[in-house]
Amino acid sequence: MTREIDFSKYSSIKVGSKIQVTILEDDFSDFQKYFILGGANNLLVSDTPPPLAILSDKYNYITYENNILTIGGATPSGKIFSFCKRNNIGGLEFLGKLPGKLGGLIKMNAGMKEYEIFNSLLTVTTHKKTLEKNNIEFGYRYTKIDGVILEATFKIEKEFDLDLLTVFENMRKNQPKDPSAGSVFKNPKGDSAGRLIDGVGLKGFKKGDMAWSDIHANFLVNLGNGNYKDSKYLIKLAKEKVKEKFGIVLEEEIELVESTNSDC
Ligand code: EPU
Repeated sequence: MTREIDFSKYSSIKVGSKIQVTILEDDFSDFQKYFILGGANNLLVSDTPPPLAILSDKYNYITYENNILTIGGATPSGKIFSFCKRNNIGGLEFLGKLPGKLGGLIKMNAGMKEYEIFNSLLTVTTHKKTLEKNNIEFGYRYTKIDGVILEATFKIEKEFDLDLLTVFENMRKNQPKDPSAGSVFKNPKGDSAGRLIDGVGLKGFKKGDMAWSDIHANFLVNLGNGNYKDSKYLIKLAKEKVKEKFGIVLEEEIELVESTNSDC
C-alpha cells in the first residue's frame, strides 16, 4: 500500500514535493529498503529521496495501566501530551512543545534541555524485538536502534506538572514561528550552534526563500516557497564558516533525506 505525501505541506519546514510513500503495517521484511518517516519534523526531504515508508495508523494508540504508559510508534506528540494532561501523568510534559511522532522522537532521543524522551523510557519494541532501556545505546539527540520502532513503554512516577508548561513556553520564546525543522545542528559540547552561526554573521542570511532565522541562528526557516537546494546550500555555508572561524565541525541534528546519487 502506498500514499502520496506532499512534503511542501506535510513536513514542518514545508520543503519538498509530492512523493509516493509506502505504508508499513504488518510486513516489515524489507524495511531496510526504506527511509522510515515519522512526522517529518526534523527532516529535509529532497525531490529525489530514497524509497520512503511510514507506519500505518494501526500504531497510533496510547494505553495506561499500573503506572505504565504504552504508546504506538505512529502516535503524534500532541495526542500524547493531551492524554498525559487529562490523566495526570507526569514526565512527558515537554511534548506539548515538541512536534513529532513517537517513533521519530525515540529514534533521536528528542527533548528540550535536560527533558528528554529517554528519561522515563522503559522499553522500545521494534518489529524484531523488545529492548530494555539499559540495553539501548543512547545520548544527546542520539540512539542506536535497529529496526522499525513500533511501540515504547514509559514508567510513570510523577504527576503532571503544570508549572513546567511555562518553563517550556519560555524555552521556545527565542525560537522562530516560521516553518522550520527545529534546530539544524546539534550543540557542540559546551557550546551552542546558534551562538556559532550567529558569530559568523549568518543570522538572518537568506538564499532564495530559505534563511537562517533572524530570531535564532540555528533554525533554518522557510519564508515562502523555500526549496531543498537552497537549504542545503545554507547548511553547507554555515558548516564551512563555523569551521573556518571557530575550528568546530557542526553536526546536523536534522536529517537530509536524499538518495546517494542525488545531485542537488
Ligand atoms: N544564541 C546566540 N544567537 C542565536 C541563538 C542563540 O548567540 O541566534 C546563544 C544564546 O544567547 C544562548 C545560547 O546560544 O546563550 C543557547 O541558545 P538557546 O538557549 O536558545 O538554546 P539552544 O542551545 O540553541 C536548545 C535545543 C533546542 C531547545 C532549546 C530549549 C539543541 C541543538 N537545541 O537550543 O532544541 O528547544 O535548547 O531552550 O539542543 C531542537 O532540538 O530541535 C530544539 C529546538
